[in-house]
Amino acid sequence: MPFSAHPKADPDGGLWNFGNMPGADKLMIYRLNAAGEVARTGMVDVPDLNMVHDFAVSARHLIFLVPPYDMKSGPGLSLGDSLHWAGATRPLRVVVIAKDTLQMRQVFELPARMVFHFGNAFEDGACTRLDAVMHEGDTLRELADVMRGEIRPFRDGSSTVQITLDYAAGLAREARLFGASEFPRVAPQVVSVRHRKLAVTGVAPGSPDDRFNIVNLIDIDSGKADSYRFDAGWVAEEHVLVPRRGARAETDGYLVGVAQDARRGQTVLTVFDAHNIKAGPRAMARLSYASPPCIHGNFLPS
Ligand SMILES: [Fe+2]
Repeated sequence: MPFSAHPKADPDGGLWNFGNMPGADKLMIYRLNAAGEVARTGMVDVPDLNMVHDFAVSARHLIFLVPPYDMKSGPGLSLGDSLHWAGATRPLRVVVIAKDTLQMRQVFELPARMVFHFGNAFEDGACTRLDAVMHEGDTLRELADVMRGEIRPFRDGSSTVQITLDYAAGLAREARLFGASEFPRVAPQVVSVRHRKLAVTGVAPGSPDDRFNIVNLIDIDSGKADSYRFDAGWVAEEHVLVPRRGARAETDGYLVGVAQDARRGQTVLTVFDAHNIKAGPRAMARLSYASPPCIHGNFLPS
């Protein structure tokens, strides 16, 4: 059975995850307990469930954004070649599953975009709020072209947004938090509950190209970002919030991630003080060589 690469660890030690097979229109739900045993499973029918990479978990809901891709598979076709952007005629759907029943509660619609990653979700009165990074257009096709070595300049039309789901009105609203960006992450102690800080890696406004060169800790209420811009020649990857032992405040800890120092041909682990990102890395550990892109990372306390 499919099991996604983006499980969400509850602060209590349990794990939620999902799985989907493009073309099967079935969403699998898994609940694992703190011992790693499968405690509950569910299967929900979702039409045209062809491209789901990640999800968000709140206290009462599991939230999926389903970009408009059609599946037309055939002999010898890769997954990428089988997925066709249908954004001209279909919306981006927000599918909300209730945790207590593992059944669909409601579906919202937003303008067609591609989505990979989520920050966090929490209940806010009768609404649910969540962070996601939206990409304009058929981003999957652009990535497939890059993997084929067809590298050409393209405008990164992404943005980090906070989405509010209003169940009574049946409406999803968006508020922009940051421009071109990816890899939204929150502190592990606030997964599924109210958070105030969201880490994203992005492209600093006014940059000469679309390489990720800035790490940010965004206050989701004020929209203000505590940011550090790397020097020219550096490319930043995902950075994750690592709390000090026993920390409650989301900024009581570190922001840890990988950056590529292209001028020296080295991969560097960077450690920021989460209280003060703009002060720059408090510590750096260099490899003597450049690793392939790391994309994602997780920190496990020993
Ligand atoms: Fe991912």
